[in-house]
Amino acid sequence: MKIIKKLDIAKNYFSSLQEVIFVPTMGNLHAGHIQLINVALKKTPNVVVSIFVNPTQFNDQNDYINYPRTIKSDLSILKNLGINSVFIPNEEELNISNQEFSITLNNQDFGLCEKYRDGHFEGVVTIVSKLCNIIKPKYLVLGKKDYQQLHVLQKYIQNFCYPIKVLPVKTVREKNGLAMSSRNNLLTASQLEKASELYKNILELSKQCRSITNISKSEKKFTQNLIAKDWNIEYLTVRSQKTLLHPKSSEKHLVVMIAAKIENIRLIDNIEFCIN
Ligand code: PAF
Repeated sequence: MKIIKKLDIAKNYFSSLQEVIFVPTMGNLHAGHIQLINVALKKTPNVVVSIFVNPTQFNDQNDYINYPRTIKSDLSILKNLGINSVFIPNEEELNISNQEFSITLNNQDFGLCEKYRDGHFEGVVTIVSKLCNIIKPKYLVLGKKDYQQLHVLQKYIQNFCYPIKVLPVKTVREKNGLAMSSRNNLLTASQLEKASELYKNILELSKQCRSITNISKSEKKFTQNLIAKDWNIEYLTVRSQKTLLHPKSSEKHLVVMIAAKIENIRLIDNIEFCIN
């Protein structure tokens, strides 16, 4: 497995590879990442994984400082999976916080994560765009767990005509239903158990939403359920899979999305579903 840290070496090496499939990560790899990588490996052996904790996507400095950095175990996981190359750029060379140009998102007022994480998606798009320009992948693998991130990056790639196909990958869950996330490491054993309430509630909501007309009632009911269980809910909402807006009456492919805090730990999750 090739470990590349320098930008000039990265540019040279990645341009020599054919049909690269790229899995961007911030490290602290768990079963969710392994799923992304396994999907990638099924397509081509030229899988490039990046590890970079991107400062520009953290709206909370403490969150950035406390983000788990586990490079040694990450590298051993990647080696065991048979990854071709790992790109671990350094912040200085990427010059990410000090650029002459910046990304602005238009028409992205969904009342979802962008409302609670100022500048987050601008930071995500900036780093993914830089990494894609360095790695020049044919495919970009992204998890559905970060549903809005997936949506924003798909739009970005489409708007700017990147010759890249996005491969969305299903969320991997703990036995109790909790979506795998690096943030789960911050939860105590009892919080880990309690966190499964999120999944159980959105699953039940998705089952009870049989028509567009009962969505708003169900959203309120399940929000109240979770508030009563001491959850601090940022949003719990049913949206169109295609637009992430409130669904029109003709739309059948929906997604229930949630962001909620347990103590001060913020968790997100979603479930796609269809109505008749
Ligand atoms: O999903 C993540 O881990 C990050 O947002 C990403 C896509 C690696 C960009 O830093």
